[in-house]
Amino acid sequence: MPNYGPMQITKNMKMADVIHLNYLLLNILSRFNITLGFGDKTVEEVCGEHKVNVEFFLEITNSYHDENYFPKKQLQGFPVHLIVNYLKKTHDYYLDKKIPEIAELILRLTTQFPPSTLPGIDLLNRFFIDYKEELTRHIQREDDSIMPYILEVEQAFNSKKLSGMLFEKIKAEFIEKFALEHDNVEDKLYDLKNIIIKYLPPIEDQDLCNQIFIELSRLERDLNNHARIEDKVLIPMVMHMERKLLEQGAYRK
Ligand SMILES: [Fe+2]
Ligand SMILES: [Fe+2]
Repeated sequence: MPNYGPMQITKNMKMADVIHLNYLLLNILSRFNITLGFGDKTVEEVCGEHKVNVEFFLEITNSYHDENYFPKKQLQGFPVHLIVNYLKKTHDYYLDKKIPEIAELILRLTTQFPPSTLPGIDLLNRFFIDYKEELTRHIQREDDSIMPYILEVEQAFNSKKLSGMLFEKIKAEFIEKFALEHDNVEDKLYDLKNIIIKYLPPIEDQDLCNQIFIELSRLERDLNNHARIEDKVLIPMVMHMERKLLEQGAYRK
């Protein structure tokens, strides 16, 4: 089927052109520890220098760049730990960078316009604090319990050795339960954006409000892509490995 979506990113493109094409991809580069200053090097050359799997890099950047490009099949061909590493880097980016940045902007707003006098700003502030707590809980659960479990399953799958403990966890439907409970942290950002557009009082520093809105929208987009990889790629991969492990009777007492 012809692809009428945005231009696809390929390994022979110059990395500089990729960023000109979509500056939001800068966020992805830092998750792969790729730094700026690529000169005229191609995507493949830059990835090679930074010891990044170029095919994996292309799948991630393309799925980010074009929402309709979703390489479920291709991504499922990569080792699970590559995907886990990428997702964990993204978690760090949210908690250590993005959320503090937005918090800083909201702090500027509340300092200039004391919430006690402006109920809309108070609402935005409280809503954001709640959101931050919720996102932190969501990510901590994934980092502390889900990702280690997934890596354990991958290891068992590769070595064809399943410990009794892991066997029990698979039987207890650990990942199925997570998949069911895995909630949409990005939906709440929509409500936050609504507060800004609908309920903030007219204030002088409109630019600051616009900036907060834009940052929330970028975060929302990023989280959307992140959750798609978790739900549509990672979880099915884990379930597949679990099934194979049980079928192969890899569990030995
Ligand atoms: Fe996540
Ligand atoms: Fe998640």
